[in-house]
Amino acid sequence: MAARPNYGIDAPGVIRNLLLAGAASVVLGLVLPPVLHLGASTVQLRPTAFSIGVSVAFGGALMLLYALVGKFHHRDRMLDLHPWRGDEQVLDIGTGRGLLLVSAARRIPSGHATGIDIWNREDLSGNALDRTERNLALEGVADRCTLLSEAVQTMSFPDNSFDVVLSNLCLHNIDDQATRRHACTEIARVLKPGGVAILSDYKLTGEYAHALRSSGLKVERKFPNLLTTFPPLRILIARKS
Ligand SMILES: C[S@@+](CC[C@H](N)C(=O)[O-])C[C@H]1O[C@@H](n2cnc3c(N)ncnc32)[C@H](O)[C@@H]1O
Repeated sequence: MAARPNYGIDAPGVIRNLLLAGAASVVLGLVLPPVLHLGASTVQLRPTAFSIGVSVAFGGALMLLYALVGKFHHRDRMLDLHPWRGDEQVLDIGTGRGLLLVSAARRIPSGHATGIDIWNREDLSGNALDRTERNLALEGVADRCTLLSEAVQTMSFPDNSFDVVLSNLCLHNIDDQATRRHACTEIARVLKPGGVAILSDYKLTGEYAHALRSSGLKVERKFPNLLTTFPPLRILIARKS
């Protein structure tokens, strides 16, 4: 059993494929003939394969760097956007191994934090409810957290349940637009009047903003921090009045 909390690697298959494809292309760049002559035209084989390989592998390496280091800075940036009172009811959607949940729980000594997930291992390595429970225990916040196996689009919570709703890199995993829009409506529904949703993703944030505004929320979009996130992650702050 791990003695230290482990927050997993995001999109492990994508990172593996980028690193392997990049390495293969670099190797091709080293062994291919430098130039291929096709009739009157020539193709610069070696430099092309080499530069494609380096760029693809670099993308994979940046994603790995986010998963190992950058996501802790990104989590803090997200949570610092709310002036915590300490007694909030918090929901973390797609909590995974509890990255945002643990940090939120630390900020609410007299509140409660609930994390929901469908525990998809393609989205996060080692993604499982019992491993997240172990992280909560290791971080000393298990007594103020609840974990539930629920999907965002079918949440069972009553209306107006949470002061703060958090979510990082979750909503884009829903394939169809209608369900993503419904998920945003659900977020607006479970948020208390006066509450705030702080959501982050690498794409589709314009779509989420539109759906949240249609549900009556006021939405602000933050530019990604390019030093700590890859792919760059935008943050939405959506307030229910
Ligand atoms: C890339 S991981 C991010 C986990 C965590 N938020 C973090 O930042 O470390 C995305 C998470 O969203 C979860 N997820 C995907 N689709 C979901 C859905 N429809 N409802 C709830 N969780 C979902 C996955 O199982 C996974 O744990």
